[in-house]
Amino acid sequence: MRAKIVDKIVDKIVDDMTRRFVAAHPDTIVVDLGVGLDHRKHRVDAPSTADWFDVDFSEIVEARTEVFGEHPRVHPVDADVRGVSWLDRIPAERPAMIIGDSLVAWLSNGEIEAMLKRLVAHFHAGEIAFNDLPERWDARLKLAEEASTMLRSEVDMLPLMMRTVIKMCRRSEKAIHKTRVLRYCF
Ligand SMILES: C[S@@+](CC[C@H](N)C(=O)[O-])C[C@H]1O[C@@H](n2cnc3c(N)ncnc32)[C@H](O)[C@@H]1O
Repeated sequence: MRAKIVDKIVDKIVDDMTRRFVAAHPDTIVVDLGVGLDHRKHRVDAPSTADWFDVDFSEIVEARTEVFGEHPRVHPVDADVRGVSWLDRIPAERPAMIIGDSLVAWLSNGEIEAMLKRLVAHFHAGEIAFNDLPERWDARLKLAEEASTMLRSEVDMLPLMMRTVIKMCRRSEKAIHKTRVLRYCF
């Protein structure tokens, strides 16, 4: 339950970051890595000129198409993000908002580093928003924002018990650090 609510706060943080980016760049492409069955596009009111690339393993991508149907601006990408060639299916020249929401736990540090280097090398410019990303991995990535779920005003809307637990956790720098969403520009 607690994890679900924290996930919702992470969603809200990443949605807000995405909203700001797509508003500033109407020709955006959004690349949602390890998208699962999340449907950020429904929550973020993106301009009709934005294209979405939803990346996940083929079983998940197929399930998504069954659940959400097809959309001319949504491009499912069945790929393992640890691979190399899948990026060739995504245009490189448009501003890119790259999201990794709850993906990091699935990858080793070496895989994260290699993936981020490939992303930054592929796209001309953009932003990367990840939660749980332990540190900066590529010299081109400039930290633009750190948002800890623990410190968000949404915590005040939680039930008393949960609010109390999160407020206790705020005493721990480590807990604040661990629940950050990091946004980088490149
Ligand atoms: C915890 S879920 C998060 C789903 C979604 N982003 C969300 O926040 O609800 C992690 C997702 O990452 C996908 N994933 C994990 N490793 C992956 C990889 N190497 N390549 C592509 N997708 C991967 C999983 O299939 C799963 O759908």
